[in-house]
Amino acid sequence: MKSNVPARIDMSGPMPRHVAVIMDGNGRWARRQGLPRKTGHEAGMNAVRTTIEASVDAGIKILTLFAFSTDNWNRPSEEVSALMSLLKAYAERECSELVEKGVEVRVLGTLARMQPSAREAVERIMRETEGGTTLRLNLMISYSGREDILTAVRRLAARARAGELDPAEIDEACLERALLTSGIPDPDLLIRTSGECRISNFMLWQISYSEIHITPVLWPDFSRDDLFAAVLDYQRRDRRFGRITSA
Ligand code: FPP
Repeated sequence: MKSNVPARIDMSGPMPRHVAVIMDGNGRWARRQGLPRKTGHEAGMNAVRTTIEASVDAGIKILTLFAFSTDNWNRPSEEVSALMSLLKAYAERECSELVEKGVEVRVLGTLARMQPSAREAVERIMRETEGGTTLRLNLMISYSGREDILTAVRRLAARARAGELDPAEIDEACLERALLTSGIPDPDLLIRTSGECRISNFMLWQISYSEIHITPVLWPDFSRDDLFAAVLDYQRRDRRFGRITSA
């Protein structure tokens, strides 16, 4: 049951530096209203805007959004095209406002699979927002956690075969540097909307110690208060990283 009382986060309490979101439920949101799935994705884009603004206000430094998985390529071509057009429209429409807000956008995933016009638009938004220091926004597009790990392992194996790397020296830091998220601290908080309790091949390596918050809210309805409720939930957790006392 959704509370009517807006969630208040403790600005002096522990704040997640990095929040990652599995945005789910656009299709169900549309179906419930008798609308096409595409309309659900369009409404999801507004929730993206709201979440960025609320993240900036909460002082979150890194926001990672799972926008399109490698598995999503298997959806009907009409829906894939609609999602690509939406990403392109988002990149074109929001760019100047993101620059103004100091949001630096990075798109992580196999961009080579994207339609050229959508790919150019996301490459442009990365170029134009470069250097923003308020919030780092990672858009995961054509991304899957397993593929990222596999690509990293292949890269390390090739270096080992070339004699540049001793296999005995491959440690966690070494693998991390070979992932798409190289240099980005792991998510402190992972949010999944629409009530589904699964990870869906998202950031498998990076979420090892993330706190997980699952909300029944469908992504297009995800509001500033829903983000704050997730942060509040995080602030009440006792993060132990496998130890017996709090970190
Ligand atoms: C999951 O809902 C959502 C997606 C596959 C796409 C996410 C895309 C957006 C929120 C819009 C644009 C994004 C950006 C970053 C501009 P679903 O279709 O799987 O919903 P369902 O499970 O209810 O069918």
